[in-house]
Amino acid sequence: MRIFKLAAELQNYALEQKRAGRTIGLVPTMGFLHAGHASLIDIARKKADIVIVSIFVNPTQFGPNEDLDKYPRDFEHDKALCIEHGADAVFAPEPGAMYAPDASTWVEETVLSKPLCGARRPIHFRGVTTVVAKLFNLAQPDCAVFGRKDAQQLFVIKRMVRDLNFPIEIIAAPLVRGEDGLALSSRNRYLTEDEHRRALVLSRALRAAVPALKRAGYTAAADIVAAMKQEIAAAGGQVDYVEALDADTLAAPTEATSAILLAVAVYFGTTRLIDNELVQVK
Ligand code: PAJ
Repeated sequence: MRIFKLAAELQNYALEQKRAGRTIGLVPTMGFLHAGHASLIDIARKKADIVIVSIFVNPTQFGPNEDLDKYPRDFEHDKALCIEHGADAVFAPEPGAMYAPDASTWVEETVLSKPLCGARRPIHFRGVTTVVAKLFNLAQPDCAVFGRKDAQQLFVIKRMVRDLNFPIEIIAAPLVRGEDGLALSSRNRYLTEDEHRRALVLSRALRAAVPALKRAGYTAAADIVAAMKQEIAAAGGQVDYVEALDADTLAAPTEATSAILLAVAVYFGTTRLIDNELVQVK
């Protein structure tokens, strides 16, 4: 497996592979890889001749008071996981190799990035779309795999690809959970045992809400959200948001809504976890 640290090295490699007629699948990550990330690599492996995994804790998507500095890192573990899952190359740049000190260009999606996490983390999605656009230009992928764990991110990336005509297929990968139901996340390692146990309320409450949402659609949304907030608070979670939105517009669901994104962001201690269910209502 090849490891690249410099943007130009990755781009040259990708262009060479393209000239040789090979297709490229990209899996963008911030590292500290777990089975959720591995499932994305497996999907890319089935889909493309060459699989590139990027591992980059992207500073531009972290707010000033967020966990950029303490974001967990373990490159040796990540490298082993990438080899085990058949990646051909890992791109692991230092921030200086990705952003010129006077970088002044942003890629910004302006509608789907506003609610949910966008409302709480105002610069977050601008950082994500900018770095992902850069990764697309460097890795020249035919397809790129993103997890449904970060549903809003997936929608924003799809919109960016449509609006800017990137010739790239965006593949949505299922959300991978631990056996206890907790959505796998690099941030789970911040949780104490007690917080982890309490956090199981998220998947429990989301799962329990699905049948009622399916049955009653948008008319049930407000009651379900209120009940979930109570249940989560009772388990010791500090609700950042619980929302049921139209999955196509990320606006309030209406009669016309065909799928509802039920999304939560909740603090357990100082750790902010997100989870969601996508519910087809038509
Ligand atoms: P990161 O949080 O490392 O996630 C990388 C990819 O793995 C994302 O597409 C995310 O949705 C997916 N993923 C994480 N946990 C998952 C799970 N439990 N099940 C399924 N997929 C999961 O998301 C980012 O990094 C960054 O914002 C990035 C896109 C790399 C841009 O910096």
